[in-house]
Parts: sequence; C-alpha cells; structure tokens
Amino acid sequence: KINPIIAFDGYSSTGKSSYAKMLAQKFGWFHIDTGAMYRAVTLYAIENFYKNNTIDELALIVHLNDIHIEFKQNSDSSNNEIYLNSKNVENRIRAFDISEQVSLVAKIPEVREYLVKQQRNIGKNGGIVMDGRDIGTVVFPNADLKFFITASIEERAKRRFLDFKKLHKNISLQEVEENLKQRDYIDENRLVAPLIQATDAVLIDNTHLSKEETFCKIVQIVKNRF
Ligand code: C5P
Repeated sequence: KINPIIAFDGYSSTGKSSYAKMLAQKFGWFHIDTGAMYRAVTLYAIENFYKNNTIDELALIVHLNDIHIEFKQNSDSSNNEIYLNSKNVENRIRAFDISEQVSLVAKIPEVREYLVKQQRNIGKNGGIVMDGRDIGTVVFPNADLKFFITASIEERAKRRFLDFKKLHKNISLQEVEENLKQRDYIDENRLVAPLIQATDAVLIDNTHLSKEETFCKIVQIVKNRF
C-alpha cells in the first residue's frame, strides 16, 4: 500500500512523535502531531480565557471556531510546524505552562470533536503518520497499522527533563515526573476517547531501547506490513 494511514498512540515522552516524524520522512508520508493541536488550543485558551488560574471552559467552547490551526513545512522541509491563527507557535506550545493545562483542555468533549474532525480531514487520503492518544481507537479505527508506544515513568521523566532543561532552567526532575503522571491519569480516565491501547496495535516498550533501536524495530514492522 503506497498511501497508508499509520497511527502512533501511547504515553507522553515515549518519543512517539519523533518516531512518527522519522517514519514519515523515510517513506515520504505526511506527519501530523495531534498533541500539538491540543497544545495550540490550550495556548489560545490561556491567552484569551484564563482567569484565577483556570481556563474558562465555556468561553473556550463558544469561541472554538475562532481557532484556526494549520501545519506548514519549515524552510528545509525537515519539520511540519504548527500555526495558530497564522502565527508559528511550534516552540511556544512546548513550554511547561501549556503542559500543565493541556490535559484539562483535551478532556473537553467539544474540543475533541472540533479537532478530530480536522484530523480525519487531513488524513483521509492516506500517506499519513499521525501521533496522539486516540488515533488508532477513535480518529482512524481502521488505520492500516497501529503502534502503541510506552516506557517506564522514570525513563520518560528523565527524557522529558533533559528536553525541558534547555527551556526552563529551574525545573526539577520531580516536577516533570509529577506533570507526566498527572497527564497520564487525566488522559486515561477521561470519558471521551481515553488513552488506551487499541486491540490491534503493535505494542512497543522502549524503556531499555535507544532511539535508534526503537526506530529500527518500527521500520522493520512497517516493511513487513506493506
Ligand atoms: O503528545 P503531547 O504530549 O504533546 O500531547 C499533549 C496532551 O494532549 C496529552 O497529554 C493529551 O492530554 C492531549 N492529547 C489528546 N489526544 C491526542 C493527542 C494529545 O488528548 N490525540
């Protein structure tokens, strides 16, 4: 199959977005990071509807149609970057204040409905690698191939901490681990589209695998399948 739909779901900081991107590059497919879409909506909510340390969910729901999300290739075509209402927010959405709020925004059913519709539209013609939490279960239950990526919480916290250290000098490993645990909990327990492994997904636990080893495994599976 030349234009498959490939789903990558799993826990935060397992590298699933990186593998999805590398795979898309290798085979000439398009990569969509759906976590970035939930993060962009969260950024909009923080900028416009944030009062007393909480997001005004009702105001956000009413104004969902004002949120326009696009992906555009960067100048050397190495990455698909996300734009929120025509502004490049690729780096901004990775900051810790967004990580702290994003799972609360992602559990709002109206937000999910709004984004899932766009995700299905982007991927409908195939040739796509999409990563998130509900791609193989909800967005594309008939995807041609599904991966579910996991790793131990300690390993994931370590990896995310190293990423964050460049951006936030004072953050601690403990804070990062707490945030991951909280997001996992909210993502797994929400009513709409909770994080769960699709029954037909290939499970990869990369706690003890390097990035290269994990990617090698993924490529083998893809080559065997298509
Ligand atoms: O993948 P990333 O960690 O950037 O995703 C941020 C958050 O967005 C997740 O913790 C989850 O709450 C939400 N998300 C989701 N469904 C997706 C992708 C992300 O609920 N398909």
